[in-house]
Amino acid sequence: MTISSPPLPERIEGPDGLVIRRWLNADIPAMAELITSSLEHLRPWMAWADREPLSDDRRRRMFRRWDAYWAAGRGAVYGVLLDGQLIGGCALHRRVGPGGLDIGYWLGRDHVGRGHATRICRALTATAFALDDVTFLEISHEATNESSAAVARRLGFDLVAERSTAEVTTWRLDKR
Ligand SMILES: CC(C)(COP(=O)(O)OP(=O)(O)OC[C@H]1O[C@@H](n2cnc3c(N)ncnc32)[C@H](O)[C@@H]1OP(=O)(O)O)[C@@H](O)C(=O)NCCC(=O)NCCS
Repeated sequence: MTISSPPLPERIEGPDGLVIRRWLNADIPAMAELITSSLEHLRPWMAWADREPLSDDRRRRMFRRWDAYWAAGRGAVYGVLLDGQLIGGCALHRRVGPGGLDIGYWLGRDHVGRGHATRICRALTATAFALDDVTFLEISHEATNESSAAVARRLGFDLVAERSTAEVTTWRLDKR
């Protein structure tokens, strides 16, 4: 289900030098390098990684689609920078029902194991819950993706047993 609402924030300042912001054409070389060097790490979990590496032109067209997606209020796809260096990406999507946003995230291979994904999701959570129309958040991942489950668990998301299957695990956090 897709619900349209006002556009989500373009830029989110995280802690410790983390910046989450919408992708720019100027990111294309760094994005290509980060993804290409992390393909074995991303392919088991991110369906889009099978289509990588993309040409610069296809990446530019993808950014234009994400611009329209953002402008229509359907969600936001972000790059994540640490002290100015691209380290990964994340997204918020309005596709889990009224009042809900679904969070996605990935890190480059060399940036895991340091708590960045947890900090990114905490910043996304705070930003999302500051929006009047957002009342709950969800994270869904392949059931065997333990690293992703650990991020959701660390942030206090609850497992949604009735929405989880042998293939996909879904977590939910309600605004308090
Ligand atoms: C999912 C993914 C983003 C998680 O990355 P991650 O590095 O495990 O998660 P974090 O960045 O939060 O780091 C947590 C690790 O840092 C450690 N850590 C260090 N400092 C930390 C801190 N301040 N806070 C939290 N964890 C910290 C934790 O102990 C943990 O280590 P462990 O893996 O040995 O238990 C990453 O594995 C990834 O990119 N996977 C491929 C894409 C993917 O699966 N995306 C999710 C699809 S839904």
